[in-house]
Amino acid sequence: MQIIRDIAMLHRAVTALKQGGKSVALVPTMGSLHDGHLSLVRMAKRVADHAVVSIFVNPTQFGPNEDFAAYPRDEARDAAMLVEEGTSLLWAPDVSVMYPDGHATHIEVAELGADYCGAARPGHFDGVATVVAKLFNQVRPDVAIFGEKDWQQLAIIRRMARDLDFGIDIMGAPIARDDDGLALSSRNAYLSPEQRTAASIFPRALNTAAKAIAGGADVGEALARAETVIVGGGFDSVDYVALADADSLERLDAFRKPARLLAAARIGKTRLIDNLPVGD
Ligand code: PAF
Repeated sequence: MQIIRDIAMLHRAVTALKQGGKSVALVPTMGSLHDGHLSLVRMAKRVADHAVVSIFVNPTQFGPNEDFAAYPRDEARDAAMLVEEGTSLLWAPDVSVMYPDGHATHIEVAELGADYCGAARPGHFDGVATVVAKLFNQVRPDVAIFGEKDWQQLAIIRRMARDLDFGIDIMGAPIARDDDGLALSSRNAYLSPEQRTAASIFPRALNTAAKAIAGGADVGEALARAETVIVGGGFDSVDYVALADADSLERLDAFRKPARLLAAARIGKTRLIDNLPVGD
């Protein structure tokens, strides 16, 4: 696996990978890889000839009081995992390569980025969209793969790729979960053993709500019950539990397909997100 940190070298390496009409799938990550990321790499290898993974902890998607400095980083461990998976190329630019002095242009995400995580993290999705657009232009993949765990991010990137005519096929990969149902996340590493045990209430409460809504329960009541169960189970607060149109992300107060249950909740200093299809 080649590890590349320079844009000119990246262009040469990707051109070489594409020789003979070979296809490239990009898996953008912020590193601290877990099985969820590896499932994206496996999907990349199934749908394209080469898997290219990027690792870049993007400062512009973190708010001033968020965990940018503390975000777990271990490139050597990540690279070893990617070699095992047969990754062709690791793109690991420095902040000064991604945002050289004088960098002044960014993408602004409108309504799709305003609610849910966007409400709690102002500017977050502008930062995500900008870095993903840059990664798309740097790597120029045929396909890009994102985890469904951040459903709002996936919807925003699909819309951006369409709006800005990237001509890249955006694929979502199913959420990888621990045995107790908790969605895998690099931020799970922040949880104490007690918090980690308590955290399993989060997917359970969402599952119960999704089933109730699909079965005809009142949406407002099902969402309120989920919030009560999550807080009663050891979480400090719930940012949102919402039923949304799976594509437009419009909030729904009555069930209709395609729908997705979206949620974010805080346990100690850790903010966890999750989502489930409703009625599939
Ligand atoms: O989901 C993530 O890890 C990040 O938001 C992404 C897509 C790599 C952009 O920095």
